[in-house]
Amino acid sequence: MIIFAETKHNNKQMNKLIAPSILAADFANLQRDIEMVNNSEADWFHIDIMDGVFVPNISFGMPVLKAISKHATKTIDVHLMIVDPDRYIKTFAELGANILTVHYEACTHLHRTIQAIKAAGMKAGVALNPHTPIAVLEDVIADLDLVCIMSVNPGFGGQSFIENTYKKVAQLKHLIEFSESNCQIEIDGGVTDQNANALVEAGADVLVAGSFVFKSENPTATIANLKAL
Ligand code: DX5
Ligand code: ZN
Repeated sequence: MIIFAETKHNNKQMNKLIAPSILAADFANLQRDIEMVNNSEADWFHIDIMDGVFVPNISFGMPVLKAISKHATKTIDVHLMIVDPDRYIKTFAELGANILTVHYEACTHLHRTIQAIKAAGMKAGVALNPHTPIAVLEDVIADLDLVCIMSVNPGFGGQSFIENTYKKVAQLKHLIEFSESNCQIEIDGGVTDQNANALVEAGADVLVAGSFVFKSENPTATIANLKAL
């Protein structure tokens, strides 16, 4: 039984997905950094869209996403940190987003927003700020493809990981199992080789990593290391 448990655990570790956050890429060499991700062991592109209203920072918008889509050969995971995301759902589908994640805190009619994302042909995700409890998702968890637990306050790359995240991952895992949902758990913010294993052990499926990948000496090797942990 112990051997079986260990095998299961190792498979789980092997299967975790790595999503480099393009926010930390070199925008003057964007195509080079996109090709690096294409040719690495990364699974997804994580694309952070910030409007300067929902978060105190502006990242980039549609023309840049269009340029990324042109070169990216892997799943495009778009994280919207914007107010009133409903206005742009169709646009993001047209720009090549495969997964569209909106913030719980930005959606008055979250159920409707989730259905609209799916109707536009994308997978639907919801992100939770560090102060937002998992329990708010109880009535939509069955409809979701992804929950993004923010492990920093959204708006900036390079912040420190908030330790309370582990508890939330475990709570979300429990909710997903209880509701027999196929939803994946994504962790976003401050992910490094120091917390990756513990996050996967708590139930995380997808690890977003920005600074840890792009500010490292060899981003391709850093991605491979995270994947292999
Ligand atoms: C933060 C963004 C993150 C960010 C992660 O608001 O949603 O995706 O790029 O960057 P690191 O890994 O540097 O914390
Ligand atoms: Zn993000």
